[in-house]
Amino acid sequence: MDKLTKINQTIASFYQSKAAVSTEMIEAILYSVDAGGKRIRPLFLLDVLEAFSIPLEESHFAVAAALEMIHTGSLIHDDLPAMDNDDYRRGRLTNHKKFDEATAILAGDSLFLDPFALVAGTDLPAQVRVDLIQCLSDSSGTFGMVGGQMLDMKAEGQKLSLDQLQAIHRHKTGCLLAFPFWAGARIADAQEEVQEKFLQVGHLVGHAFQVRDDILDVTADFELLGKTPEKDLAADKMTYPSLLGLDKSYQILNQDIDQSLAILAELEKAQTIKADAVKALIERLRLHA
Ligand code: IPE
Ligand code: IPE
Ligand code: MG
Ligand code: MG
Ligand code: MG
Repeated sequence: MDKLTKINQTIASFYQSKAAVSTEMIEAILYSVDAGGKRIRPLFLLDVLEAFSIPLEESHFAVAAALEMIHTGSLIHDDLPAMDNDDYRRGRLTNHKKFDEATAILAGDSLFLDPFALVAGTDLPAQVRVDLIQCLSDSSGTFGMVGGQMLDMKAEGQKLSLDQLQAIHRHKTGCLLAFPFWAGARIADAQEEVQEKFLQVGHLVGHAFQVRDDILDVTADFELLGKTPEKDLAADKMTYPSLLGLDKSYQILNQDIDQSLAILAELEKAQTIKADAVKALIERLRLHA
């Protein structure tokens, strides 16, 4: 079974593992999960594990699924009328449009909280589970994605500095993309310095990812995005193209990618890792004018 199918199956089985309290709730959750998405965060985790020559097991897919669940919850909330107010996501109606706002809020809540049980229930060593849960919480909550979303909302209509824009992107998007890089190295029981390097790579990739998303907002169409184009312009968001223009944004995106690949190449020289698949996945983020 391929990785994507196995990730999807892990999420689906989690929601079938106990008697449902509300089948409507599970329907709403799976509506957004099953809408697809690139699954890039869980794929990074699995590819990093394989870079350390770790054979993939159920527990790894559980961590990958947990990460994708939090990400999907963040999209449901991001699209709410009180936030970015989007009608489409992953090529279909947003959760609150298909169901209603209360359901979308609660589906997001579930997708933020359920993943911790999923990770806690794996058969990874206890200390690894605790470390993963702590980092996943940090990357998602007040000190990570949610904190960044708050900065993003408050920045609407403002003209901020590049440092402030970087802080928004690092938190709202970077933290959840950095998690799989660090988590892969942690599960592999790599030395602290190596875990630190992977975290650094993850933050570069995470930053690149949001710069790319900002660029695509102004350059891509609905067909490619599966969400409404030019939303950032309409909401007067702080983005790379709005602050620095498109040319400079492409440059920054590609520089971040180059830097992340250079760190991985150094790691490959110093450690017994083979990061070809990770590097290829990062390469896919490159865009040119
Ligand atoms: C969209 O994330 C939100 C951002 C953080 C830019 P993705 O581009 O990974 O969305 P899906 O999961 O593929 O739908
Ligand atoms: C998304 O940023 C960050 C999240 C935490 C979801 P955006 O608001 O730019 O993401 P899209 O463009 O709606 O996917
Ligand atoms: Mg947003
Ligand atoms: Mg949005
Ligand atoms: Mg966007």
